[in-house]
Amino acid sequence: MSTLESKLSQPLAALGVSTAEAVQSLFAELAARLDTELATKVPDEANFNLVKNAWLGRKSGILPLVGDNWLKQAPPTLKPAVGQALNKLKQHVENSLESFRTAAEKSTQEAAAAKDRIDLSLPGVQRPIGTHHLIRTVMQEIEDIFFSIGFSVVEGPEIETPYYNFEALNIPEHHPVRDDMDTFYLDLPKGAPGPLLLRTHTSPVQIRTMEKRQPPVRVIVPGKVYRRDNPDATHSFMFHQIEGLAVDTDITFCDFTGTIEYFVKQFFGESVKTRFRPSYFPFTEPSVEFDVSCIFCGGSGTGASGATCGKCKGSGWIELFGAGMVDPAVYGFVNYDPKRVSGFAFGMGMDRLAMLKYGIDDLQVFFQNDVRFLRQFP
Ligand code: PHE
Repeated sequence: MSTLESKLSQPLAALGVSTAEAVQSLFAELAARLDTELATKVPDEANFNLVKNAWLGRKSGILPLVGDNWLKQAPPTLKPAVGQALNKLKQHVENSLESFRTAAEKSTQEAAAAKDRIDLSLPGVQRPIGTHHLIRTVMQEIEDIFFSIGFSVVEGPEIETPYYNFEALNIPEHHPVRDDMDTFYLDLPKGAPGPLLLRTHTSPVQIRTMEKRQPPVRVIVPGKVYRRDNPDATHSFMFHQIEGLAVDTDITFCDFTGTIEYFVKQFFGESVKTRFRPSYFPFTEPSVEFDVSCIFCGGSGTGASGATCGKCKGSGWIELFGAGMVDPAVYGFVNYDPKRVSGFAFGMGMDRLAMLKYGIDDLQVFFQNDVRFLRQFP
């Protein structure tokens, strides 16, 4: 039993307290005890209840014990002093407990507020930032090259009429070249004006542009095109083209090949050579197919090990895209005077250019959205 507890269980006489001064110092001892108790405890609800109980608890609280053992049993001469001291102590206990309670409340509130507060020193939530898709990057590379020689970008609809996709490009109905473009026609409701189709190339935008603008015209047209092709390493039902069209009063075949050569060298590098072969498109005359010297074997046709280059199959050349001088018949559809104007057009597969430049051998990876692929081209 602690000294204090043993003191509390005995009357004052047994403790040898017989003067008002002795009473005072006894009570001062109690007050000091309360003060240290409160000062050493964390202000919270549990400690408040603990201390309150120890001091005011009805059964064995310190103050009731003081009342029972000291006050009630005090000699009449000492009673007023004990009474007064007890009242003072009671007051002190109540005041001290009250401030302890306030402190406890305040710290609970602060703890709750701290929970909601944003801690700026914590490491933040990292949200991964996406990157441009390689097709988008390549599109911008191509655009930048053509911007530098005075071309601008136009766009056109992906859903087209047969007129823009075929007829105005000098491909009449029943022309066999339509067979090369296995076309997606839209399943339209009965009575709807039609037919409509997903454009098979970006060439319809040539017509749309010339309808709207007078020469000089110098535009490129990036966009998606659609063909009924089964997906494999080099085919997809949707892919990207970039069309080019330049029409003016004095554009020659030399301007045409010079422009293409400039582009190819800018895109693949100075050492790459170009060549063209005769080809056929109903909307260009003459029509050509452009090739570049093989980017993989440097045009030699043999790989590093001396074996035949698998990319160009030993020819040293890789087929790039179709192009030609705009067929005068096309001008008839857009009210340009074929005697006054001339021009050239080309249509490049953007996916193919990207595959060649970045060494990708499967077209499908562009559309699979596998981040392991996409992240390689930040
Ligand atoms: N539109 C043609 C195609 O998709 C390419 C092309 C465009 C050819 C312009 C000549 C001129 O195959």
